[in-house]
This record gives sequence, C-alpha cells and structure tokens, in this order.
Amino acid sequence: MEKQAFLVAGGAGFIGSNFLNHMTPRHPDILFINLDDLTYAGNLANLKSIESHDNYSFIKGDIGNRELVQHLFEKFNITHVVNFAAESHVDRSILDPQIFLKTNVLGTQVLLDTAVAHWKKNPDAQNNCRFLQISTDEVYGSLGDRGYFREDSPLAPNSPYSASKASADLMVRAYHHTFNLPTLITRCSNNYGPFQFPEKLIPLLISNALQDKEIPVYGDGKNIRDWIFVLDHCRALEVVLQKAAPGTIYNIGGSNEWQNIEIVKFILKKLNKPESLIKFVKDRPGHDRRYAIDAAKISRELNWEPEFSFEKGIECTIDWYLSNEAWLETVHSASYRRYYEKMYSQRDT
Ligand code: NAD
Ligand code: DAU
Repeated sequence: MEKQAFLVAGGAGFIGSNFLNHMTPRHPDILFINLDDLTYAGNLANLKSIESHDNYSFIKGDIGNRELVQHLFEKFNITHVVNFAAESHVDRSILDPQIFLKTNVLGTQVLLDTAVAHWKKNPDAQNNCRFLQISTDEVYGSLGDRGYFREDSPLAPNSPYSASKASADLMVRAYHHTFNLPTLITRCSNNYGPFQFPEKLIPLLISNALQDKEIPVYGDGKNIRDWIFVLDHCRALEVVLQKAAPGTIYNIGGSNEWQNIEIVKFILKKLNKPESLIKFVKDRPGHDRRYAIDAAKISRELNWEPEFSFEKGIECTIDWYLSNEAWLETVHSASYRRYYEKMYSQRDT
C-alpha cells in the first residue's frame, strides 16, 4: 500500500491538536501535515509534544488558499484530508457570520475541489484515500424533552455557525455523489478537555472560577448538552478513518446529557468555589434547547465506545488547566479581551 499522508486542517485548534497528539506517535508510518491559519483559536503551544516528530510538519495557511492547498497535495501526495478547520463558536457567529461562511463553507470547498483533482490520478483512491469532514450535532438543530439525533435525522441548523457546518456537510455529500469522492462525515456532540479555548462553557467556567470571576449562565441555565471527553472523540475519528466505507456518516457522542447549570455547579464543587460566582445573563439569541446523540451506529459497525466517564474526564480537564495556567494566560490576549468587552456590552444583564 502507498504511504499515507494526512492533511490535517485546523490541527492547532482544540480538537485538531488533541487528534494530532493522539495520532502522530501511534502511527509513525503516516505523515501528518498540519495546515492551520492560526486564528485566535489556533495555538502551536498545543503541539509541543509532537513538534519534533519526523512524521509531523506544520504549515501556516488558510484552507481557502487554493494555490497553497494544491501545492501541499502535490508536494506530500496527500491521501487523506481530516478537516477540523473552522470558525467554531456560536456566539461569535451571531456577532459576525461572514467569516463562518468563508472558512466553513468556501474553505471546505477548496479542500474538496483539490482532493477531487488530485485523487483522480490515483487508480485506487476508493481504497487508499479518505476525505473526513469533522462536523457537529448542531447541524440537526434542537430537540425537545425526548428523542435523539440519528444520522438520518433532518438537518435543521439554527445558528449561523451550525448553518455553515450543515452547508459544508451538504457540499461533502454532493462531492461524494457527483465526483465519487471517498468522503466521510462525523457529527460529534460537545467536547471538553485540554487545550480548549476559554470561550466555550467548560474552559470559561474553569478559567473564571480559578480567578474568582463571575460565571455567565445564559437564560435559565436549563439548556442541555451531551458532553464527550475530547480523547474519546479522537479515538472515534481514528477508527472511522481506518474502517469506514466511503459516503458514510457517523454520529459520535458520550450519552452524557447535562443541564448547563448542573455542570456549572458540579465543576464549582470540584474546584471548591462558591455558587455565588454564578451570574444568570441574557440568553443567547436562538439558543438551542437540547442536544442528544444516538451513537448506536458507530458502536455497532465500528465497535467504538467512549472510555472516559464524565467524572474522570472532568478531573483530567481540571488537572490540565490547573497545571497549565501559563497556557491560559497566553490565550487571554488583547484580541480575546476586546471580543468579550464587545459581546458583553451587547447584553442587558
Ligand atoms: P477551534 O476553534 O478550537 O479550532 C479551529 C482551528 O481551525 C484553529 O486552530 C484555527 O486556527 C483553524 N482555522 C480557522 N480558520 C482557518 C482557515 N481559514 N484555514 C486554516 N485554519 C483555520 O475548534 P474546535 O473546537 O477544535 O473544533 C474543530 C472542528 O470540530 C470544527 O470544525 C467544529 O465545527 C467541530 N466540532 C467541534 C465540537 C466542539 O465541541 N468543540 C464538537 C463537534 C464538532
Ligand atoms: O454540539 C457541538 C458544538 O458544541 C460544536 O459544534 C461547537 O463548535 C461548540 O462550540 C459547542 O457549541 P455550544 O454552543 O453548545 O457550546 P458552548 O460551550 O458555547 O455552550 C455550551 C452551552 O453553555 C450552551 O447551551 C450555551 C451555554 N453557555 C455558554 C457560554 C460560553 C453559557 O450558559 N454561558 C457561557 O458563558
């Protein structure tokens, strides 16, 4: 079999860096090329443990830069694309949707076009090549009190972020049907773990609590998310890349539903911090009420199950943030503070 070369787009972000830290040492025979534009969310400090590995290289660049992407496909003879690159934060997509369309939809299209053109020359692309789009359960919209998202649930995205991710999923689907591109799509629930930028609920709450700052809880705090430890997500992606047939979609989730307010109280208790830090604030516009994943397909077909209980995953996450306060300080950059000032100036309370 020809040597595998993975183009990992967005590999300096939260999930992408956990994926590279997991995969690079375990697969010394695979070359990993990390293409990342290092937006506010990308951080090379996340990749310290693998930066000197022979099978790993970093390239700074935009997935929307067609010439660069074509050059990388040629130079490294890319056999796999794993596309994590995205604008990923719902609140930011409400303030400024445009960049979400540019990166998440048009950027993905550049990767798709280039894969089609390059893999056309590969007579055994259906066996040797894969284009894995890292998607999200948010493409399915919001659930009521009952039911679960399945792979055949209708797409009904509600935020500019989730609409951009659903659009990308539809383009991936179209490239499979039209050009026979060997695509895969995974749709995962909310991740938590090391290296997550402290704009998302769990790292924000750990970071604020450590500094005795208020923890903003949107609305009544009763929205439900289904949480998974990031390493379990990465293990699922590994097995999908190894075993899944072209054209398939897999949901990934931890069967671990929590109301936001319960998570906040749970983590404050673990940190020995008072509930008086909680501040209920104005709700997120269009806030999805409940997400819950049915992950039976990946369990049945690929024999994947999450290995971390929520208790264990949260303990690992808290330990990581406690041992990496310097990391937290560097990401609390001027641009981050400016964004928060802007966002909170638009809230009533
Ligand atoms: P993140 O925001 O932490 O990382 C995104 C990465 O993409 C950053 O390193 C950033 O620099 C890079 N990037 C952004 N625009 C780029 C561009 N134009 N070209 C190249 N690189 C670019 O995001 P994350 O939480 O790690 O999410 C990764 C992927 O997983 C996203 O596609 C997201 O939609 C999806 N996802 C996330 C979650 C979650 O809970 N975080 C759950 C399910 C799916
Ligand atoms: O479900 C997968 C998705 O999970 C991913 O596709 C997204 O990239 C990722 O950002 C995440 O989206 P959410 O909007 O669910 O995550 P977030 O951490 O922003 O919010 C989680 C819940 O907590 C949500 O109901 C909003 C609420 N929240 C969030 C923040 C940041 C608060 O109450 N207070 C906050 O300060």
